[in-house]
Amino acid sequence: MSDLSVRYIGLDLRNPFVVSSCGLTGTLKGVAQCAAAGAGAVVLKSLFEEQIEAEIGVSDVRRDIDIHPEAPDYLAELGKTHAPRSYLQLIESARKEIDIPVIASVNCVSARWWSEYARQIEAAGASALELNISIMPRSLDQEAAELEIAFYRIVDQVRKKVSLPITVKIGPYFTALPRVVDGIAKSGADGVVLFNRFYQLDVDAESLSLAPGYQFSSQHEMHLPLRWVSILAPQIGCDFAASTGIHSGTDAAKLILAGATVVQLASVLYRQGVKHLSIMIQEFESWLDRHGFASAQEACGTLAQSPSFQPESLERLQYIKALTGLG
Ligand SMILES: Cc1cc2nc3c(=O)[nH]c(=O)nc-3n(C[C@H](O)[C@H](O)[C@H](O)COP(=O)(O)O)c2cc1C
Repeated sequence: MSDLSVRYIGLDLRNPFVVSSCGLTGTLKGVAQCAAAGAGAVVLKSLFEEQIEAEIGVSDVRRDIDIHPEAPDYLAELGKTHAPRSYLQLIESARKEIDIPVIASVNCVSARWWSEYARQIEAAGASALELNISIMPRSLDQEAAELEIAFYRIVDQVRKKVSLPITVKIGPYFTALPRVVDGIAKSGADGVVLFNRFYQLDVDAESLSLAPGYQFSSQHEMHLPLRWVSILAPQIGCDFAASTGIHSGTDAAKLILAGATVVQLASVLYRQGVKHLSIMIQEFESWLDRHGFASAQEACGTLAQSPSFQPESLERLQYIKALTGLG
């Protein structure tokens, strides 16, 4: 039997299957169910920057950030059920009762509260901190470089305050993604999560109003993180977690071959139930055995795109083959 354990951002995980930050990891009961189903680690539901502002009485809550599907509920409960204090309690109790790493998550658009709050998250016993940086450019005046610097500044300021491992979860919409990911790693991140799946916007054509879109991913969406993990993992000195569209043990195997140390899962567990995790892990384990990999670590990065291999030429060739029917 292959060894499933991996080392991710300095943490020892029993396997590379991590439950993503989502409603399933927002309570102690939910986190315990993930651990019982075999998760290697959990990322707690994000705490939103606005919740900190509300608890400390700041009134200029900005609602123009790109928020997740459950954020409206969260914001409605500001300062009550999910205030930062109760988030710290969730970390403390999860760490006490669950024997897998518990990664805290904050959804931030600036560095202003996080450096102090990150310290409290560390003191509460979190195994690591995931920064979900959700800066949504809307202004015609904002330059790309200005936005990118905002990412580096957040990471840098949090890094200076805490010694626990930090990961940064970002979306795919950057012109020069390799440079941005490199900048994030150089600012002090131990890992990068590719990618956040943003809140999907829809329009209700009958009521003529904006509406939330379908919130769960489909399996074909995993090709986007697959491409970028395979290009970036061999070039950038940090760990990679793949997120979005990973719905089976075979999908996980593909992302790990591409260079991800771990995969993060949300939609598949909402749709199939948290217990489905154990089936995915079994599927992954038998795939490792079938292909003669002694461990998950041995498989990791086997098919990553070496920089000297000129990935753009390879991809262009595949593209031409697909379009000309020669593939
Ligand atoms: C209901 C729901 C709530 C989510 N809440 C958060 C959140 O609070 N913080 C976060 O970083 N990501 C959040 N996400 C995004 C997931 O962590 C994940 O990155 C995304 O759903 C893509 O992975 P998937 O294809 O496995 O669903 C949420 C996703 C869903 C479906």
